[in-house]
Amino acid sequence: MKDLKNKHAFVTGAASGIGLGLAKAFAKAGMNVSLVDLRQKALDEVLPWFSEHGYKAQGIALDVTDREGYVTAADKAEAGLGPIHVLVNNAGVEVPMVPLWQSTYDDVDFITTVNIKGAINGIITIVPRMLKNGEPAHVVTTSSQSGLSVVPGATLYNLTKAAVAAMMETLASDLQGTNVGASVFAPGPVQGNLSKTSYEVRPASLPNQAEVKPREVAPPPPPKPGEEPPKMPDFSKATIPAEDAGDIVVRGIQRGDLYIFTHPEFKSGIQAKFESMARAYPTDQTPDPEREDIFKNYFTFLTSNPIYKTQEQR
Ligand SMILES: NC(=O)c1ccc[n+]([C@@H]2O[C@H](COP(=O)([O-])OP(=O)(O)OC[C@H]3O[C@@H](n4cnc5c(N)ncnc54)[C@H](O)[C@@H]3O)[C@@H](O)[C@H]2O)c1
Repeated sequence: MKDLKNKHAFVTGAASGIGLGLAKAFAKAGMNVSLVDLRQKALDEVLPWFSEHGYKAQGIALDVTDREGYVTAADKAEAGLGPIHVLVNNAGVEVPMVPLWQSTYDDVDFITTVNIKGAINGIITIVPRMLKNGEPAHVVTTSSQSGLSVVPGATLYNLTKAAVAAMMETLASDLQGTNVGASVFAPGPVQGNLSKTSYEVRPASLPNQAEVKPREVAPPPPPKPGEEPPKMPDFSKATIPAEDAGDIVVRGIQRGDLYIFTHPEFKSGIQAKFESMARAYPTDQTPDPEREDIFKNYFTFLTSNPIYKTQEQR
């Protein structure tokens, strides 16, 4: 989807962090933006930036887990700014980082409902409208590098981000030949407020982060007498500004990228994962010629998805 001018972007989780960065990047690219978020007050605080800069934007309060509410929000968005051309399923939450066997079922339900079902609700509500409208359109869902190469101790978060990555790869396959494209956005660290807002939008019935026993991390050994303590880097340097992430997504949509990544530093970890998988295939057997013929000529869709070939070198 090359031409974004005067097109309508619908961004969830847009009152903060990456979603807000995306909304600003879309506005700068000439789009009209619906900023969608559960937190109305936070929307009210960020909206003036758009009018002050002469951009057309509206705020829409929505809990992405509310299926009926989603339809009403999409109707409201289209009544204000016309047909939706870009959907970004970006709203997300985290839960306390504990090994899975220490997780509560409440946390399981909370994070899977927002991060997976919330994104599904966006697709089921808005993609049929995009197909019907017929104009070039694009869907992005925010996954994470941790959905592709897992972070120890964050099973619930990782699995929701892996789920939406698989969802978008399949969606991109199913949308081939239509007017709608699809991308997985898997950022590395970006300036955002997930560890704060997740506890603001968390149902009151769930335990608070403070009530959850944190993982025990061994403290670094004290310096030996006369030795300088190790100099720690400025960890904030690992994160990129949310507006830069937004610009990266804008470019990814215009190029029709299947994957949109932010940090080149994560490439070797992803490569290591796929190399480990390649090493795991049996080497003591050669492919069975009959089976190979069946897969090659009748069930190619099981063994090799052409969607992966659509990703160009950036
Ligand atoms: N910041 C990072 O480093 C990073 C890295 C990888 C992936 N991500 C993903 O990016 C997305 C945004 O993260 P962020 O860091 O900008 O967080 P953030 O907290 O700054 O923004 C998230 C927004 O989502 C909203 N939200 C939460 N639940 C909602 C619901 N049910 N309905 C509607 N809105 C809801 C919150 O109110 C908040 O405004 C998340 O999906 C997160 O998992 C973030």
